[in-house]
Amino acid sequence: MTQNRTAIVTGAASDAGLGYAAARLLAQDVMTVYITDIDGNAVMKRAEELSANGCKVVAAQQDVTDESAWNALISRVKEETGRIDALVNNAGIAVLRMMDDLTEESWDRQIDINMKSVYMGCRAVLPMMKAQESGSIVNLSSVAGMIGIPGCTAYSASKAGVRVMSKSIAMEVAAQNIRVNTVHPGMIWTDMQKVAIKDNPEQYDIITQGIPMKRMGKPDDIAQMVLFLVSDRSTYITGSEFVVDGGMTAQ
Ligand SMILES: NC(=O)c1ccc[n+]([C@@H]2O[C@H](COP(=O)([O-])OP(=O)(O)OC[C@H]3O[C@@H](n4cnc5c(N)ncnc54)[C@H](O)[C@@H]3O)[C@@H](O)[C@H]2O)c1
Repeated sequence: MTQNRTAIVTGAASDAGLGYAAARLLAQDVMTVYITDIDGNAVMKRAEELSANGCKVVAAQQDVTDESAWNALISRVKEETGRIDALVNNAGIAVLRMMDDLTEESWDRQIDINMKSVYMGCRAVLPMMKAQESGSIVNLSSVAGMIGIPGCTAYSASKAGVRVMSKSIAMEVAAQNIRVNTVHPGMIWTDMQKVAIKDNPEQYDIITQGIPMKRMGKPDDIAQMVLFLVSDRSTYITGSEFVVDGGMTAQ
């Protein structure tokens, strides 16, 4: 139970997304959860839905690539709750382009939103976590941060960066009882996947046939791992990577 603790979950505006699923489980575990997203209206709606079910959830509009937005968020959480026990760096986009079409502009956008944002988020919460001498940071990487996939050059680079950056940060703060881990989802049925296969619906069957469990994952499959890493069930786990992919990368 994570009662009386505070968490921040980024990229939580999509009702079918991983951020919202994680926020819901953390809030049901009696945490106060700040959910943020670049889409301010949608994230407000998600907070209303969860609050209507008795959860303590607060919404904030935030671009995760904007350092001043991070500072404003941390000041607000500090003032309102006095602590930050968990940060889930979940916001992300998928620029899926083969090398011939991968422009410098789209490369920069991918790296900024998926990787630079994680550096910014960690930097923003660490002073409070150090003062508390406790905290858990969960960074969303991907199986694409571990294996090569055609069309994933920029996405893979961003997610591999998140994977190893998290280990380095974990080494810096382990002695202060702050844990940093990564979660590596396989193919999870969210808007990100729906957009990716929109123009090629036959891809759905091809993809699921290639997964040993013969299905895409559900957002809750990932949210359960996030809850575990935030909770006291994982107090000796840091600098580690957790693959949740229905066996996809075990082949
Ligand atoms: N769905 C999958 O199969 C899958 C697999 C591996 C990893 N992931 C990772 O999990 C995370 C969540 O993915 P999802 O499938 O729920 O995606 P999603 O597209 O459903 O949700 C991502 C959210 O991030 C928000 N966002 C985008 N740019 C932002 C910015 N600059 N600032 C703040 N918010 C921003 C979007 O508005 C959206 O609400 C991502 O980091 C993604 O790379 C997803």
